[in-house]
Amino acid sequence: MKKEYKVLMVCLGNICRSPIAEGLLQHKVDHNRLNVAVDSCGTGGWHAGELPDPRSIEKMDEYGIDIRAQRSRKIRETDFDEFDLIYCMDKSNLSNLRAIAKGNENKVRLILNPNTFGKNEEVPDPYYGAGDGFELVYQQLDKATDSIIEELKKGH
Ligand code: 4NP
Repeated sequence: MKKEYKVLMVCLGNICRSPIAEGLLQHKVDHNRLNVAVDSCGTGGWHAGELPDPRSIEKMDEYGIDIRAQRSRKIRETDFDEFDLIYCMDKSNLSNLRAIAKGNENKVRLILNPNTFGKNEEVPDPYYGAGDGFELVYQQLDKATDSIIEELKKGH
């Protein structure tokens, strides 16, 4: 059997966007029976140990995916060696991650680029918004994770 491939989803707090990305990709990995491990984390550790934001949990419930087993954690130096691909949500995440990647900068990608012709578009942070932001995040990440699954299927 081929080596397990590992994908890490990253945002700022690891309570809103990257838990949705992790939940979507894990769901699709399971559905397609791929030998891929999925995890998520934040560039910041303020919410370490916490469940995803209730608005992310509720949004994913709407689409039939339970993300209540997830707990927030901060990025670790070892993540850059351990994971094969590291997808982040915005340009701020990207520069923060590349600054600490120590030779693994090429593993770190903006998650929307495969769907937006490499235009460096971002998944907007919905944390301070009224809640409508979460549907947009879901829709963007649903398409992004479809593209990731297509790539993973080619390689595995
Ligand atoms: P996330 O959203 O990066 O999508 O998880 C945020 C969550 C919390 C904070 C910022 C963004 N915060 O500053 O606590």
